[in-house]
Amino acid sequence: MNPTLAFIGAGKMVSAIVQSLLRTNSFSAAEIGCCSAKDGTSEKLAEATGITRFESVEQMLSSSPSVLVLGCKPQQLTELPPTASDLATDCLVLSIMAGIPLPRLSEVFPNARNIARSMPNTPGQIGHGVTGYLFAKSPEQKDRQLIEIILSSLGTAYELGEEADLDRVTAISGSGPAYVFEFTCALEEAGRAVGLSDQLSRELALRTVTGAARLMESSELHPKELRDQVTSPNGTTQAALESFTADELRTIVRHAVEAARARSIELSHE
Ligand SMILES: NC(=O)c1ccc[n+]([C@@H]2O[C@H](COP(=O)([O-])OP(=O)(O)OC[C@H]3O[C@@H](n4cnc5c(N)ncnc54)[C@H](OP(=O)(O)O)[C@@H]3O)[C@@H](O)[C@H]2O)c1
Repeated sequence: MNPTLAFIGAGKMVSAIVQSLLRTNSFSAAEIGCCSAKDGTSEKLAEATGITRFESVEQMLSSSPSVLVLGCKPQQLTELPPTASDLATDCLVLSIMAGIPLPRLSEVFPNARNIARSMPNTPGQIGHGVTGYLFAKSPEQKDRQLIEIILSSLGTAYELGEEADLDRVTAISGSGPAYVFEFTCALEEAGRAVGLSDQLSRELALRTVTGAARLMESSELHPKELRDQVTSPNGTTQAALESFTADELRTIVRHAVEAARARSIELSHE
C-alpha cells in the first residue's frame, strides 16, 4: 500500500507523531512513510515502528501520499530537492517547522491541495503538548479532520483565526516550556542559596513544579484560586508572593512574552 502520510524528517517531533498515530490506531504502519537526511533517524524510526522508509524525498513523493508533513528543521527547507514542489501536487502539506510563514510555504508548494502551518511545543514529544495551527485557505472537512488527528497526537491542538496569532502562540506555548524550565532552575538555585544540598534542591524544585502542574491540570479551580488556597494570611507563601509583587514578576513575564513575539515576527521575515 502506498503511504497516505509522508514525513520529511524523522527526528523527535515526527517520531512522537508517528508513534502516537500508531498507538491510537489512527493510521496503520503501511499508511505511513518517512525519509531523513544523513544521521540515520529515518532508519531508526522505521525499524522501531514498521513504517516505510524512503531513500529520498523524491522517491517518497513519487508514491503520491495524501498528506506531506514537513518535520525537518526550518533551515533545511531550502535543502529540499527542487522537484519536491511538483511531486507534492495535490498533497495536503502540514508544516511543523518554526518560523516559516504560509506565503513562503505556498511559494515552495504552489500546487498543494492546501497548506497548514502549525506551532507545536516540546511537551508534544510525550503527548502533552499544545499546538496552534491554521490553514492557508478554508479547508475541506476531510482535510480539517486529518490535520486535527495528526496534531492531536502531540496533545491538544487549537485552530487559530489569523497567521499573526502564531507569533502570539509561539510566545506563550511555543517558548513557554522554557519559561517553566527556567523557573525550575531558579527555584533549585534558591534552594542551594538557603542551604539545601545540590541534590535535594534539584529534586524539590523538580517535584514541586511537576506536582503543581499536575494539580492545576486535574483541579477545576483556576490557578489563582489554587494559589490563594495555599496562602495563609501572614504566612510564608504570602511573604514570598509579596516579594514577587515587589519585584514585579508579572511585568517580567509580560516583557519576556513581548520579546518572544517580536523575535518570532522578525524570524518569519528573515
Ligand atoms: N522539538 C520540538 O519540541 C519542536 C517544537 C516546535 C516546533 N518544532 C519544529 O519541528 C521540526 C523538527 O524538530 P525536531 O526537534 O524533531 O528536529 P530533529 O530531531 O533535529 O529532526 C530533524 C529531522 O529532519 C531530517 N532532515 C534534515 N534535513 C533533511 C532533508 N534535507 N531532507 C529530509 N530530512 C531532513 C533529519 O534527518 P537526519 O537526522 O537523519 O539527518 C531529522 O530526521 C523543526 O522544524 C522545529 O522547528 C519542534
